[in-house]
Amino acid sequence: MAPEAATTPTNAPANAPQPLLDWVAGVATLTQPDQIYWCDGSEAERDRLQKLLVDSGTFVALNPQIRPNSFLARSDPADVARVESSTYICSVNESDAGPTNNWAEPNQMRTTLAGLFAGSMRGRTMYVIPFSMGPVTSPLARLGIEITDSPYVVLNMRIMTRMGSAALERIAAGYYWVPAVHSVGYPLIDAQGNTRPDVAWPCNETKYITHFPETREIWSYGSGYGGNALLGKKCYALRIASVIARDEGWLAEHMLILKLTSPEGKEFHLTAAFPSACGKTNLAMLRPTIPGWKIETVGDDIAWMRPGNDGRLYAINPESGFFGVAPGTGENTNPTALHALGRDVIFTNVALTDDGDIWWEGMTDEPPAHLIDWQGNDWTPDSGRPAAHPNGRFTVYAAQAESISPDWEEPAGVPIDVILFGGRRATNVPLISEAYDWEHGVFVGATVSSEQTAAAEGTVGALRRDPFAMLPFCGYNMGDYWAHWLKLGAQLGENAPKIFQVNWFRKGADGSWLWPGFGDNSRPIEWALRRIAGEVGAVDAISGRLPRPGDLNLTGLDMSREQLDALFALDPDAWAAEADLTEEYFAQFGDKLPAEMTDQLADLRDRIARVKAATA
Ligand code: GTP
Ligand code: SPV
Ligand code: MN
Repeated sequence: MAPEAATTPTNAPANAPQPLLDWVAGVATLTQPDQIYWCDGSEAERDRLQKLLVDSGTFVALNPQIRPNSFLARSDPADVARVESSTYICSVNESDAGPTNNWAEPNQMRTTLAGLFAGSMRGRTMYVIPFSMGPVTSPLARLGIEITDSPYVVLNMRIMTRMGSAALERIAAGYYWVPAVHSVGYPLIDAQGNTRPDVAWPCNETKYITHFPETREIWSYGSGYGGNALLGKKCYALRIASVIARDEGWLAEHMLILKLTSPEGKEFHLTAAFPSACGKTNLAMLRPTIPGWKIETVGDDIAWMRPGNDGRLYAINPESGFFGVAPGTGENTNPTALHALGRDVIFTNVALTDDGDIWWEGMTDEPPAHLIDWQGNDWTPDSGRPAAHPNGRFTVYAAQAESISPDWEEPAGVPIDVILFGGRRATNVPLISEAYDWEHGVFVGATVSSEQTAAAEGTVGALRRDPFAMLPFCGYNMGDYWAHWLKLGAQLGENAPKIFQVNWFRKGADGSWLWPGFGDNSRPIEWALRRIAGEVGAVDAISGRLPRPGDLNLTGLDMSREQLDALFALDPDAWAAEADLTEEYFAQFGDKLPAEMTDQLADLRDRIARVKAATA
């Protein structure tokens, strides 16, 4: 017989408040774990769980001489990325989820979840994880409790959030917290009491990643991977937080945060929204190829931004670690990330070398002669398949990056000067383009298209709209979200950050990148900062304001005039076709579409018409 919740052993801390104890007991009654364990975030606890996962076969301990205290996990091949088709916003009214989210009626979803979670933790330990998104004492930080039956999730949450006793103390002091329940959906004992052995990566074919915006709750079932399971990240810090931010007048965004210091010693902060696996971690750790500039990391995935007392917009990174894409991380692309991975790292779905280290495509030019691939099979360079999964990831403390900014944990956040919107576009979108004003910037963000990546299920390479890089992460109606951005811009007025669109991914006719990218992305960013300082001019164009010839610093770059022209070429016919698609795209938002967006589309069409008339 499964033990009753009332008799389930637990180490509940003395300061855990009664409502929290009651909620935990209720989840235990539903899920029927063998025991309940409250996480304190200590190193001793970490060491115990690491050993547990090595003993159970979920973790491979890497060679401690090469990579001390680091581990490799291989997931179930059917659980490798976010599952957008199983992700739901369960608002009371369907129109509050909007046309870009899956919606389910909350009571109906609760019934579904009650069935799935009933007994889902039988034979397992239920972990209670108090966590803070943001530095614990920051006025912008928010608290949560994740319940999970996955010790792998606990260890990842320990890196990605401020987890343990300090967060619980704030909860005990009465601060608001968001409840989040996660189960891999693989009980070890069934309703009849029959047992089965555990597997290295327990999960369930049925998956539900659900959010209740009115009651601010998260329930996630069936996946152990990334944003599906580390509920502080996308579920809380983006989907639920975007709803809280709308109600309270701030922004929860899928953005990296950077600090930049010019050769003259002037400091700037920048945020940038790029879709999943489109270069945020890379840009967050950028090593400028132009002399004199210093770039430091504040965050690589999520920014919470709020107007400060001085009227400027301030950002914090709510996370404390990086859950970064491993493939493509190499000495010549992102050396800073590579160096951060020297110790205390959890690797997931990358390859194992014969000497007990890790490898992935792009780490070195020459692949090792033999590897164990991400699925645990022998691999050689002529195997004809990737050794690492394209969405293989590393989990590492942010503080391990040598580029980490001294102000990355500043409780008040950092003041934002510039916002970039980007995507992966082989055509049409120029290297950099300055928005005419805030409203135009919101239009640019709202209309971003990007080629899909392996970070979520779906067709890699397929072009889709990913407004503000928030398509999978906005917890409410996207039309209302744009209206919220417009409102905040009006409030910030002259203090609003300046908005630019960038595209590192434009390709030539032969399919090769037109722009070297990575460290050289410092060049268009320098132009943007010189623009806001009023130091360089620009020319008005269809997309926005472009650098004048000669204004972009290309010293030391081997780039022909033709290549440069191709990077900035704007074909009025192609832009007219996109404007038509934008009109169709906007139509689905009905009366939720802010009038400013329709006006911006008309302005865009005017600019296209003027160019056509001038060249006719
Ligand atoms: P999430 O963590 O999924 O939100 O993604 P991210 O935006 O942080 O992605 P990341 O920085 O890890 O980018 C992953 C991919 O983009 C890798 O394949 C990189 O090699 C590629 N990439 C990043 N910057 C550039 C660039 O400037 N040029 C080119 N061509 N590729 C880039
Ligand atoms: C993304 O997909 O944007 C990520 C990875 O940052 S995950 O946490 O899995 O969502
Ligand atoms: Mn992301």
